[in-house]
Amino acid sequence: MEFESLLLEIAEGIATVTINRPKALNAMNAAVLGELECAFTALNSNPEVGCIILTGSGEKAFVAGADISAMAPLDAVTARDFALLGHRVMQLIEKGPKPVIAAVNGFALGGGCELAMGCDLRIASDNAKFGQPEVNLGVIPGFGGTQRLPRLIGKGRAMELVLTGDMIDAQEALRIGLVNKVYPLAELLGETKKVAKKILSKGPLAVRLSKEAICNGVEMDLDRACGYEADLFGFCFATADQKEGMQAFLEKRPAKFTGR
Ligand code: CAA
Repeated sequence: MEFESLLLEIAEGIATVTINRPKALNAMNAAVLGELECAFTALNSNPEVGCIILTGSGEKAFVAGADISAMAPLDAVTARDFALLGHRVMQLIEKGPKPVIAAVNGFALGGGCELAMGCDLRIASDNAKFGQPEVNLGVIPGFGGTQRLPRLIGKGRAMELVLTGDMIDAQEALRIGLVNKVYPLAELLGETKKVAKKILSKGPLAVRLSKEAICNGVEMDLDRACGYEADLFGFCFATADQKEGMQAFLEKRPAKFTGR
């Protein structure tokens, strides 16, 4: 696959997608979003890929937001279409069958923070900065910020970030649960790959179903969500991975999962 604004590398079951517009701090215009849509559609069905890392080019930014120069001339209809395109990309990541880890290597603002929240895990460099600064521009977050942020960090903290437009640093993001881990920038990709490798060593179907159970269940009431979990748990027992995983434990040996 050839892209203008993305780099894509696949090695040892891990796909690394890098948004590559460093001069614009990797800001996302419609072309970048379209390429992300293409890349994730292909990766989601590529059997060689078990885990996806999403990061930004350069040492300054993950993604500094949706591209303000591209948004400035939009009207109500084209802005809505732009937001819907952003939502499609976030959902492709969030609902996709493979774990996606954001390696947040600098500014993750507006659409960049929203993109990171669409991922399953967020690992940040110590220079990363997060925020939803849309109110500074006279708009509201448009790629899910008003929805995923309260689900992730709670309504009160989400209100504070969205209403003030304040930026927070990586340590504060860690403290409030917006990111999972923080590392020095030079170690970010290496440490993120370690997490990806750890996930790859587990039962692939169990990983996939766990992601499904959490992503879909969190939107249901607890009774329905627990019923849904029970169904998926039961489904695991129709797989070779369950037989192998439990047999290997009982025989005190490492499991050899096949993803079947
Ligand atoms: N869109 C377009 N271009 C952007 C951009 C963005 N979101 N963010 C940075 N850039 C560009 C700058 O215009 C600048 O380009 P030039 O060199 O051609 O002037 C280049 O990237 C470098 O940026 P700065 O010179 O501003 O770098 P800095 O270190 O002084 O500041 C920053 C960094 C604080 C991130 C600042 O660039 C900034 O505030 N950017 C905008 C952040 C923002 O408001 N993001 C939200 C966008 S709205 C949104 O995302 C809506 C949504 O939910 C869908």
